[in-house]
Amino acid sequence: MNKSMALIKNKKILLGVTGSIAAYKSAYLVRMLVKAGAEVKVLMTPSAEGFITPLTLATLSKNPVLSTFTKQENGEWNNHVELGLWADLLLIAPLSANTLAKCAHGFCDNLLMATYLSARCPVAFAPAMDLDMYAHPSTQENLKKLKAFGHHIIEPGEGELASGLEGKGRMAEPEDILEEIEILLSNTQALKQKKVLITAGPTQEAIDPVRFISNHSSGKMGYELARVCRNAGAEVHLVSGPVNLRVPKGVHFYGVHAADEMYAKAQAIFSGADVTIFVAAVADYAPKSVSETKIKKKDDELSITLRKNPDIASALGKVKKDGQITVGFALETDNAEMHARKKIESKNLDMIVLNTLQDSGAGFRYDTNKVAIISKVGEKVNFPLKAKSEVAEDIVNAIVKLMDQKV
Ligand code: CTP
Repeated sequence: MNKSMALIKNKKILLGVTGSIAAYKSAYLVRMLVKAGAEVKVLMTPSAEGFITPLTLATLSKNPVLSTFTKQENGEWNNHVELGLWADLLLIAPLSANTLAKCAHGFCDNLLMATYLSARCPVAFAPAMDLDMYAHPSTQENLKKLKAFGHHIIEPGEGELASGLEGKGRMAEPEDILEEIEILLSNTQALKQKKVLITAGPTQEAIDPVRFISNHSSGKMGYELARVCRNAGAEVHLVSGPVNLRVPKGVHFYGVHAADEMYAKAQAIFSGADVTIFVAAVADYAPKSVSETKIKKKDDELSITLRKNPDIASALGKVKKDGQITVGFALETDNAEMHARKKIESKNLDMIVLNTLQDSGAGFRYDTNKVAIISKVGEKVNFPLKAKSEVAEDIVNAIVKLMDQKV
């Protein structure tokens, strides 16, 4: 579970579960939503109860599961209007072909349907059905209708289906659903129509076919920035060295290894970018020559001659045009502020994000970071230790502020 789900925190989510084998994934979905800080209430259609028990979903959501118009024990009304008004988002996942057809045509034969018709919040659907059912013109027409109503469809994936057939129709994975919800709930459009280029992760400089020089960069900060910029409406281009992270949805992704490769990719995108954030921990040096065969163990000592890599931030800083914003990162161990300010000058940056390895919980591999943002004009803002997702938001807010000043 990544920690970038700040937008989901404290959100009230109504999850409608319908009769599909994918209902088992709803348990994971509820758990992830609750973990991300959402308040979740589950509504089930009668046929969904054949696939997963209300007890499971009630336990995971920490709320009673609702499925009927009245509570059996005392006849009290389950108020669908109130539920519809309570929610920040109605998510129907899995969405069966039957419930899809009912939503498209306004049927109201169960509590979920009544709530759907009463809801004023955004509505998202994650269809799940067999490939032929999904491909049927009737299903496709109904999906078109839901889109025309302004609802959001979370596309099903392709793969093995419960029937044993292979094709499109399996419900999107809970992780993907969470990300789509995050985009849906993001209400800032501060970077709308802006192109953002981000370099992230380490670079790997080959020594021979099996060895390389690299560093401890996890890529987390860059990926969080990509996510936050995407949520703010930007077209994001992420050029990343090898890391073990999920690529944020909706982001243009370019996987690279060596600094030369990262430079070439970044250079190709840079001229059209409104904002470029250099987060990558680029190796400053690379082996001068790469051995074509594995270097064998011989003498007691081995020397490898290194040559300087391109400084991507500095090279692109030289061709930067008016109106383009560039942001760098500096990880320093001594005289941090002085070094950071020097880098603003030498790399022609508008802003630099400074972190030091001395702060516990900050830097490589951690999910948290403690930074100071220093601007070209000399302003310095210190931030406390925070989740990298929140640090990314602070950085993006500072960029937006700078853009507003430049206009
Ligand atoms: N950077 C880059 N290309 C390089 C080296 C650094 O684009 N070859 C970028 C980093 O992504 C970061 C900034 O420059 O945004 C500063 O990186 P850092 O490693 O701190 O600076 P260096 O210039 O390499 O200086 P030094 O290692 O001597 O501190």
